Amino acid sequence: MTDGSFRASDVTKSYDDGKTFANDRLTLHVEPGEVYGLLGPNGAGKTTLVKQAIGLLKPDSGTISLGPHDLIDDPDAARQLCSYLPQAQMPINSFKAHEAIKITGMIRGGSAAAVATRRDELIDALDIGEWRDTLGTKLSGGVKRLVGFAMVAVWPGRLVILDEPTNDVDPLRRRLLWDQVRRLGDEGVAVFLVTHNVLEAEKSVDRLAIIDEGRIFAEGTPSSLKLADRGRLRLQLMLVPRSATPELPAFVEDHTRVRNNLIAVIPEAEAAHGIGWAQELMGSGIAEEYALGATTLEDVYVRLTGDIAAKEPASS
Ligand SMILES: Nc1ncnc2c1ncn2[C@@H]1O[C@H](COP(=O)(O)OP(=O)(O)O)[C@@H](O)[C@H]1O
Ligand SMILES: [Mg+2]
Repeated sequence: MTDGSFRASDVTKSYDDGKTFANDRLTLHVEPGEVYGLLGPNGAGKTTLVKQAIGLLKPDSGTISLGPHDLIDDPDAARQLCSYLPQAQMPINSFKAHEAIKITGMIRGGSAAAVATRRDELIDALDIGEWRDTLGTKLSGGVKRLVGFAMVAVWPGRLVILDEPTNDVDPLRRRLLWDQVRRLGDEGVAVFLVTHNVLEAEKSVDRLAIIDEGRIFAEGTPSSLKLADRGRLRLQLMLVPRSATPELPAFVEDHTRVRNNLIAVIPEAEAAHGIGWAQELMGSGIAEEYALGATTLEDVYVRLTGDIAAKEPASS
């Protein structure tokens, strides 16, 4: 078999007569066996790229291919070679969960026996046995998404595209789901994963790109993207609800506040001062909790996407 990598080259897609660039010369590749994450905030252009890869949308320009197949000119190949979990829920209303999984596997070309075995493994691995005989209409959003994932993973194509696979899924089963995403990669599938959940993705992806406003701003392995943050720590403070952001000591290099959460980035050498400051804030009733730890991919992500937002106001 020839090279089976998934490649998007210079993919551009605009809306509103060229006023909004949902994708702006996007270029990336995913190799067989690799889990690749496309991470970005809402509206960054992730789903637009996915829809073009599976033939639901045509790009204005650029190419998308899987091995020797041009997925834009050959939507039949796209359907045969790619498995897709949409961000919008799968329509499985009139089937029981176990039927929906088995039927999709057989439509994709698996034998009844092999598909049934793999289905049962997946039902176990995702811990959804309770809903095995439940009709699609009766499933909650999170369970429906897990069933949707099992429908994709039961007999995957060479490329598996997952668009926000953990939406609505409870925290325990999210972990089970990420393990199965990893397993797809380990079995040789090229996994293209689209998500805004940076922290979860960090543990499962081999490489990732950070996308905003249709463009890729950073790409690499999770650790290579964190390199610039070496020597820095994140001090996370849980502030008392609705309190003002306290004055920041000079050693704080960067900070973000999301609701009650204040995250300050400080140099490693200032760890003791950081803890002292956090304890003061707790003593004076401004903070309720704190934690000091290594910077995460989310910190990198916030810094990069924050920089982007700061550099390019929406009006320009
Ligand atoms: N059918 C459409 N018509 C006009 N604009 C659209 C359409 N679909 C998406 N967009 C715009 O394209 C941008 C990217 O959207 P999308 O790819 O859905 O982002 P994401 O999946 O990263 O949240 C957004 O600004 C969105 O408003
Ligand atoms: Mg989307």
